[in-house]
Amino acid sequence: RDARAREPEKKYDLVLDDTVEFVQAMKMPGTLESSSGSEDDGDGKKKKKKKKKKSKEKKADGPVSARLEGDAERVLSAREKKAKEIEECQRSLPVFPFKEDLIQAIRDHQVLIIEGETGSGKTTQIPQFLYHSGFCDNDMKIGCTQPRRVAAMSVAARVAEELAVKLGNEVGYSIRFEDCTSERTRIKYMTDGMLLREFLSEPDLGSYSVMIIDEAHERTLHTDVLFGLVKDIARFRKDLKLLISSATLDAEKFADFFDGAPIFRIPGRRYPVDIYYTKAPEADYIDACVVTVLQIHVTQPLGDILVFLTGQEEIETCQELLLERTRRLGSKIKELIILPIYANLPSEMQAKIFEPTPPGARKVILATNIAETSLTIDGIIYVIDPGFAKQNSYNARTGMESLIVTPVSKASANQRAGRAGRVAAGKCFRLYTAWSYAHELEDNAVPEIQRVNLGSVVLLLKSLGIDDLLSFDFLDPPPQETLMLALEQLYALGGLNHRGELTTLGRRMSELPVDPQLSKMIIASEKYHCSEEVVTIAAMLSVNNSVFYRPKDKAVHADTARKNFFVPGGDHLVLLNVYEQWAETDFSTQWCYENFIQYRSMKRARDVRDQLASMLERIEVPLVSANKDDNTAIRKAITAGFFYHTARLTKAGGYQTVKQSQTVHIHPNSCLFEDLPRWVIYFELVFTTKEFMRQIVEIESVWLREVAPHYYKGKELDDSTNKKMPKGRGKSKVELER
Ligand code: CDP
Ligand code: MG
Repeated sequence: RDARAREPEKKYDLVLDDTVEFVQAMKMPGTLESSSGSEDDGDGKKKKKKKKKKSKEKKADGPVSARLEGDAERVLSAREKKAKEIEECQRSLPVFPFKEDLIQAIRDHQVLIIEGETGSGKTTQIPQFLYHSGFCDNDMKIGCTQPRRVAAMSVAARVAEELAVKLGNEVGYSIRFEDCTSERTRIKYMTDGMLLREFLSEPDLGSYSVMIIDEAHERTLHTDVLFGLVKDIARFRKDLKLLISSATLDAEKFADFFDGAPIFRIPGRRYPVDIYYTKAPEADYIDACVVTVLQIHVTQPLGDILVFLTGQEEIETCQELLLERTRRLGSKIKELIILPIYANLPSEMQAKIFEPTPPGARKVILATNIAETSLTIDGIIYVIDPGFAKQNSYNARTGMESLIVTPVSKASANQRAGRAGRVAAGKCFRLYTAWSYAHELEDNAVPEIQRVNLGSVVLLLKSLGIDDLLSFDFLDPPPQETLMLALEQLYALGGLNHRGELTTLGRRMSELPVDPQLSKMIIASEKYHCSEEVVTIAAMLSVNNSVFYRPKDKAVHADTARKNFFVPGGDHLVLLNVYEQWAETDFSTQWCYENFIQYRSMKRARDVRDQLASMLERIEVPLVSANKDDNTAIRKAITAGFFYHTARLTKAGGYQTVKQSQTVHIHPNSCLFEDLPRWVIYFELVFTTKEFMRQIVEIESVWLREVAPHYYKGKELDDSTNKKMPKGRGKSKVELER
């Protein structure tokens, strides 16, 4: 035993300076046996022999990548080979043997709940089954919603490939600011938010024969609202088939909600997964991830690793650390291919995670919880789960909305672990203790509808003519407080009148696929004659991650570059400045590179901007440019949309929100960090170490009365020192005051 254990350990000592200690606590049973002999991806001797025999087969093993052998391989053309490969792949999916039964069940029932483990083929196969069974006759479409943008795109691409059609033709997708469909599209994947928008133009979903509400277990805000809407439609469109598809757990609940609809269960197939916990809590889970990846890489047989992180920033940090560490280790270790996946990653990069791992190498995928259930990546044997996800949280009492890194639920943790058992027996390393799992994790996550601001959804429902929101058919109703606050805020914005009815402004606001505040800001820009600039700002704000690139090894340069973009007035104007300078270079990549700007984010901002600009035409807002020397108009338009995100400087030199008197802070990255303006408007509040306001702009309190006289009472804006101050003042003013 000793001898066997020592060999990898030696190697291990050689390369790693620190380690994370794990204890195995339990096994998640699978329904499949894992026969160790069938693995050609191990390190052991037995497996090496096997490797020789199979040397031509470069891909990971398992039923999914079954290939042809021998002569037949050479005879078939690449195209036929591909088709054959796809067919074999489809046949291997758990849903495959149920095709006929499933179609029959769909013919027999109007509403059907489909439950099957992640990776069983629900999302990619069921629409194809329907397509081949006549559900697209008479030019009808099959719709399938996805909670995530990335999933909608990637799944559509996959299905187009399986059907050997060009993406955007028979198979397409539609996500916010991007429509990849055509007249010919029969299978349409879309985000749940996009389907909600479609109700505005096609309230009976008349062009669809089947609507699949997929990933229902995710319980996103939009999916939850869709439940109520499609349930209603199914009553008067008897020919519409409704499928509610979910990974696990909630099937009964969905069935009850849909008046006792039958449940179709696809039996899962999964290999067992060993679960490990850390011996002690980890102080820095990013670092623990990096160490654990390397630990697996040098001690464990080949097989890909999936790491769950909370967002792009963490993923990039982790990627940099891993690159640095592996570079240092050089040829002492096997090749480690590091691949990120998150919502804003461009699609050509996303596709990479599905490419097979080259022989002798190992893939490590750094993912957000998109890989929890929405995307299935083959070949994963190891999962590293720090146990966190970013979650929206909203306090209706204070009106504070924040994105907080929160511990995941037990249900999520188990979904994550399950990702390791798809192709063979796997291992899941949880970067928290067994005690923590048992005592600190909730059983299930709180549905989004109960913890977010409902402004945009309420506006949308109102525009669909649903006036009595309190009696809307919710699977789980949102807190009444949150609903009331949303109504109040929409009233303050002028989108609703005092009877709660949609106003003309409200209707125009609902035409733009952005939050009510942003849409109000855009519409207000008409009055202030600065729509060109405001649309750019809205687009830059919608690219919800920083456009500034800050690699660790060049942090100082990056910060200098960022500061070079600073202009008076606030971060919105800095964003505008970045965009305008970039536009002047004719959208140059090189320019981005030289100025530490993320080209990808900029490109997306440009797309969003183009889309918004064309929508403005529809709501008849002319595109006009502001006076270059005075940014007051722009800041007033921002104020018109975001007036309830106002904070003021306190005597003590800190900030408090005006309405709720919550203590908040200027983010250190803000161009106003050292300025301390008296009144600011923030775009969002993020809680990291403190409540930080992100993207702030300096305003004058009198504007608040100008744009929202009904919202701000005189006294709230009382400010004895609120005189117009000279430009360019710095800290001195505050110091004087103290
Ligand atoms: O929806 P469900 O989780 O039941 O499964 P699915 O997403 O339909 O995935 C079925 C199979 O398609 C898996 O083996 C995936 O790896 C594969 N797939 C893929 O290769 N590329 C994609 N973009 C999406 C799925
Ligand atoms: Mg799916």
